[in-house]
Amino acid sequence: MADDHSLGELIDMQLSQNGPMSIATYMSLALTHPRSGYYTGKDPLGAGGDFVTAPEISQIFGELVGFFLVNLWQQMDEPPSFTLLELGPGRGTLMQDALRVAVKAEGFLDACHLQLFETNPALKAQQAERLGQYNPYWASEIDAVSDDPLFVVANEFFDAMPIRQFVKGEDAWHERQVGLRNGKRVFGLSPIPIPEASMPEEVRGAAPGEIYEVSLASADIIHQLGTRIRNQRGALLAIDYGYGDIQTGETLQAVRNHAYVDPLEAPGEIDLSAHVSFGALRIVAEEVGLTVEKLSTQRDFLGGLGIVERATALARANPERMDEIGAALKRLTAPEEMGTLFKVFCAHSGDIAALGFPA
Ligand SMILES: C[S@@+](CC[C@H](N)C(=O)[O-])C[C@H]1O[C@@H](n2cnc3c(N)ncnc32)[C@H](O)[C@@H]1O
Repeated sequence: MADDHSLGELIDMQLSQNGPMSIATYMSLALTHPRSGYYTGKDPLGAGGDFVTAPEISQIFGELVGFFLVNLWQQMDEPPSFTLLELGPGRGTLMQDALRVAVKAEGFLDACHLQLFETNPALKAQQAERLGQYNPYWASEIDAVSDDPLFVVANEFFDAMPIRQFVKGEDAWHERQVGLRNGKRVFGLSPIPIPEASMPEEVRGAAPGEIYEVSLASADIIHQLGTRIRNQRGALLAIDYGYGDIQTGETLQAVRNHAYVDPLEAPGEIDLSAHVSFGALRIVAEEVGLTVEKLSTQRDFLGGLGIVERATALARANPERMDEIGAALKRLTAPEEMGTLFKVFCAHSGDIAALGFPA
């Protein structure tokens, strides 16, 4: 019976019956299989989990995002009704910290319809606990439920979206796949050649062996929400590890207990992710008619919003927490920590100026 099998065994059965699958299919199964996917079971966050995210490092992260959102709302002449949608809200910490700050802007909370998109029941329960007072609505699809202005926030969400990989051969590209060899899961290449001309201009001429990654799921989300933002006004803010140019490079990674592991081992029990191609998100957002800010680093974005001043004020008010606050500031902004690896992407309806982005 299927229930007696681990997700790895179920994937192996599928591979032996149907042959190799794309990396995107493998990632989708490993992360969101309805019964045994990584993001459908346990809470993966925090020191006791597999990784720690920025909102879990310091309350200041969410507070500054709250300040950023209030500023956009004010620039739009304070619309009396808008949707605030968070993609992958984790434990609800970012939004809790953001709304604690936003409540100080008169009228913001009355106008705000909070919408959350989440697959993980354990995390949904934590979101309900932290955000219940704001009457959130959990959407089953990535879409907004009204035609009001729309603000979208996504921290470390797009890195969990499935990617496909293409490897340059001697004269054509081939999709990288997951298959079985001697009963073991291995990477291989599809025999079907993809001509150089069908790849983006920026990666044509790559040397044999180079890898180009693309996330169709991320492009779809930007297209869907971007079209709404163009028609309804608003903005999308995405923070994640990633890169700005269309380029080659292999970034698929697997993490378990804060350490890197083989992406093919134990699907469903390890976190699989890939760096976000913000250049690809930009192309889609501009195609639907949005204005896209120059990509910022987490360090510059938080710096522009006043993280140093906020950390100083917080430490002054809580001298016993001085060391902890200083360590969090360093972790979020130092170039050798999250400061420059993490980028901040903002696409908006063009009638506003987003804070924290290069001129
Ligand atoms: C890396 S965690 C980040 C959580 C949170 N934003 C934070 O910064 O702490 C990714 C989040 O996206 C959710 N998620 C991942 N894949 C998803 C999918 N396909 N659909 C909906 N939610 C998803 C996870 O359950 C989790 O809440």
